[in-house]
Amino acid sequence: MIACSRCHTGNGVNSVTGQFRRMMGDGKWDPAAIQAYLANMHDAQPFMPPFPGNENDLKLLGGYMLHLQANGAPIAGGQSAGVTVNPTYTAEALKAARSKEIAAKEITR
Ligand code: HEC
Repeated sequence: MIACSRCHTGNGVNSVTGQFRRMMGDGKWDPAAIQAYLANMHDAQPFMPPFPGNENDLKLLGGYMLHLQANGAPIAGGQSAGVTVNPTYTAEALKAARSKEIAAKEITR
């Protein structure tokens, strides 16, 4: 799921479960169909990267999708855990840098 969670949630905004539900309906999904889709996801939708795993990863992720479909639970921290922002690029740091740039221009005018 870490290969998907840059762009998808489990059960929230642009969720993988929502995408598969749209494609496969509300009945129990077929893990083989999910695996076949994932193996070709980049060809199906070029804005998605190629699936980054091997056959075994495909099977595991296919099974995990069924688990997500069944329990509907959010993926704890999926979009934020382990993500740190380089202090140079926080909103505050960028604003401060921009103010300095503007002030410097005004001085040279
Ligand atoms: C670079 C961003 C990105 C990554 C990484 C990504 N996706 Fe997507 N995916 C998207 C976008 C954007 C859409 C289209 C959303 C829409 O149209 O509402 C999409 C659509 C989908 C769809 C529906 C496709 C269709 O043909 O209608 C599925 C299923 C899906 N993603 C599953 C996954 C899975 C599973 C992973 C991880 C193995 C993954 N995606 C990784 C961006 C990504």
